[in-house]
Amino acid sequence: MPSLDRNTITQALSSISAHGMQQDIVSAGHVRNVQIFGDEVEIDVVCPSAALAVKKKLEVDILEAIQQKVYEKAKVKVRVSVLEQPAAPSIRGPQLPGVKHLIAVASGKGGVGKSTVAANLAVALSKMGFATGLIDADIHGPSMPLMFDALNERPGSIEVDGKRWMDPVEVYGVKMLSIGFFAGTDQAVVWRGPMATKALQQMIGETYWGELDFMIIDLPPGTGDVHLSLVQAVPLSGAVIVSTPQPVALADARKGIAMFQMDAINVPVLGLVENMAWFSPPDQPEVRFPVFGQGGVRHLSEQMNLPLLAEIPLVQSIREAGDVGRPAVLQENTEVSRIFQTLAVNTVEQLSIRNQTLPPTEVVRITTMAGCAPRKQPQH
Ligand SMILES: Nc1ncnc2c1ncn2[C@@H]1O[C@H](COP(=O)(O)OP(=O)(O)OP(=O)(O)O)[C@@H](O)[C@H]1O
Ligand SMILES: [Mg+2]
Repeated sequence: MPSLDRNTITQALSSISAHGMQQDIVSAGHVRNVQIFGDEVEIDVVCPSAALAVKKKLEVDILEAIQQKVYEKAKVKVRVSVLEQPAAPSIRGPQLPGVKHLIAVASGKGGVGKSTVAANLAVALSKMGFATGLIDADIHGPSMPLMFDALNERPGSIEVDGKRWMDPVEVYGVKMLSIGFFAGTDQAVVWRGPMATKALQQMIGETYWGELDFMIIDLPPGTGDVHLSLVQAVPLSGAVIVSTPQPVALADARKGIAMFQMDAINVPVLGLVENMAWFSPPDQPEVRFPVFGQGGVRHLSEQMNLPLLAEIPLVQSIREAGDVGRPAVLQENTEVSRIFQTLAVNTVEQLSIRNQTLPPTEVVRITTMAGCAPRKQPQH
């Protein structure tokens, strides 16, 4: 049996990242106590999030780090306590009173995988036990009806408190609405800005979403009308930015990040997702071809001090899953489904950190579209 000592164990634990990907749990001061009795190791660790999945992941990471890097047969006992948290700031606005956390999935460039990420994130959160909703706000090409095999579905109507509301469609445990349900997936593209904005307002303000832990909003590419309407309509808890590693996509991702970080908008960017990070041929899964370049989004995340939430390979099964309307995270026990689950865990973790450190987001009031400095409108 190799010597089990505090230093070797601490070194192994410092390979586990905390707070997304930037800092490890040892440097973050999350490891509070390490005790060794022969081949038994007891560790007290604090976790920034109370979410069961986040705590479980930390426990598994610690167990694996010790057994893989120090001693395979070590008996590891992990006690996870949750960091003393101030009450999460309420972001509930008048528009979506029952929704706790609103996350926008955005990019600068089109076609980089926003909708794929949004669909899989929503389904992963629902699989983790969170009540989850999804709004497809992409006027340029609503893709959720196809990605959720719901092309023929239509939202219903429901009466609550004497008022008629739209009743979202529910697929794979996710309540969802798409502009595609109103205009047909091939007509929405010709809508002018005001029509799209009106549809977005209906999906947000005239729909009975009930109590939701998370609402994911899939945005169109760029930084246009829909983005402005959204930050005016609801207080977003955060944005997830998707990019491929290629320079042209990264340049646009920067613009997307800059929009959310503008003083007037001030929506926290929870992290970045590198999509199409590499391609591995099915018969050579260990070989990675960096089709769109290597590590570009990781580099951007380091430069901008933002967490990298996931690196997703270019895989045929992800494209096929989207096309047959069954998001890839639903695959049993595949690498791809694990990656999307990790994305969801990291997103929840970042949101919990955001809620501990930042005040609630406010909706933005923009008095004129051009030139005029937007003003904040307090929610409460
Ligand atoms: N990691 C991946 N591996 C394989 N195919 C992918 C991957 N990510 C996305 N795709 C495919 O690429 C295409 C574009 O993806 P998606 O629609 O998610 O991008 P988008 O950013 O939402 O596009 P748009 O800007 O048009 O809204 C889709 O056919 C999708 O199935
Ligand atoms: Mg899309």
